[in-house]
Formats: sequence, structure tokens, C-alpha cells
Amino acid sequence: MPQFIPLFSEQEIKNQIKTIGQQISFDYKTKDLVLVGVLKGSVIFLADLTRQISIDHEIDLVGASSYEGTSSTGQIVFTKQPDLALEGRDILLVEDIVDTGNTLFKIIEFMKLLDPRSIKICSLIDKHERREVKIDVEYSCFSLEKGFIVGYGLDYNEKYRNLPAIYDLKL
Ligand code: IMP
Ligand code: MG
Repeated sequence: MPQFIPLFSEQEIKNQIKTIGQQISFDYKTKDLVLVGVLKGSVIFLADLTRQISIDHEIDLVGASSYEGTSSTGQIVFTKQPDLALEGRDILLVEDIVDTGNTLFKIIEFMKLLDPRSIKICSLIDKHERREVKIDVEYSCFSLEKGFIVGYGLDYNEKYRNLPAIYDLKL
């Protein structure tokens, strides 16, 4: 039976999102903010984050899946491209977790082709254990050295995204 060890509670998540929401609202006051969530893991985080940002902004979604089991620098396929015109705008990519950084690196390369004014990253979790490419995560709620976590959008084989808190999964 898998074990779920509590890591970050609902209240801790809520508090952290409130704090970064205020920070983003301050930093982007004079900018043209578009939050671009990375499907599917970020949707729950995105839904809570957008409501903690007090300045006008828009939201969009991008979908990318990587071929797992192949080399870590392998290809990604875009399953959903942004709907909004992003040229000249300030994109904040919203992710559930940055692990090796390879997925986000590829997404950033693609987003740059859309000619935005800026691209920054906001990730619920910044995990350092397996980082392979240099990625600057400007905003994150939690930093994690290692482990495999689920809940609050994060899945294991598509399950457990619905858990309201974040757990360390022991299989
Ligand atoms: P990477 O940064 O390219 O290695 O990939 C990050 C993606 O891997 C995330 O968006 C998640 O979908 C998934 N992932 C990495 N670590 C975890 C974890 O601890 N729990 C659940 N999903 C994870
Ligand atoms: Mg993901």
C-alpha cells in the first residue's frame, strides 16, 4: 500500500500563495501580465494564484508532454498552444514543480518565438535534486531537496491531483 506522508498543509499552501500573489502584484504593477499555466499539474495552483493577484492580468494555458523513459534532453510535444497574442507582453509561466528543468527549458524556448517582452517562472515547488539545466525560478512557494510528492495538482500516474494538501509518496 502506498503511504502518504504529510509535507505541506492546505493552510501552508494558502499562506504561501497569498505571499507570492502580493509580490507578483507589486512587481508587475506597471507591466502587462499574462499567467501561462503549464497543463495539467499547474491548474489548481493557477486557480488559487490568480485570485491572490490584485492587478489586472490575463490567464492562458500551454500543454507539453515529454517522452518519458528516453534521454532527459529528449523532445517535447505541444498538446496545447496559448490562445492569447503574447507579443510584447509579460509572461509568467506557472508550473507545479520544476525538477530537472528540461520541460520548462523547452517551453521557454518555444515561448520566446512568440516575442514577449519578458518571460519569468513561478513554480509551486522548486525541487533541486535532479536539476540538469540552469533555470531561474523567480517565484516559488516551497523549495524541496528531494522526494516524490503528490497532491494539489501533482500526480503519480495521473492520480492524487485532487488531494488538498501535498504529501511525500512512499510506494
Ligand atoms: P522536469 O523539470 O522537466 O524534470 O519535469 C517536471 C515535471 O515532472 C513536472 O511538471 C511534473 O509533472 C513532473 N514531476 C517532477 N517531480 C515530481 C514530483 O515530485 N511529483 C509529481 N510530479 C513530478
Ligand atoms: Mg507537470
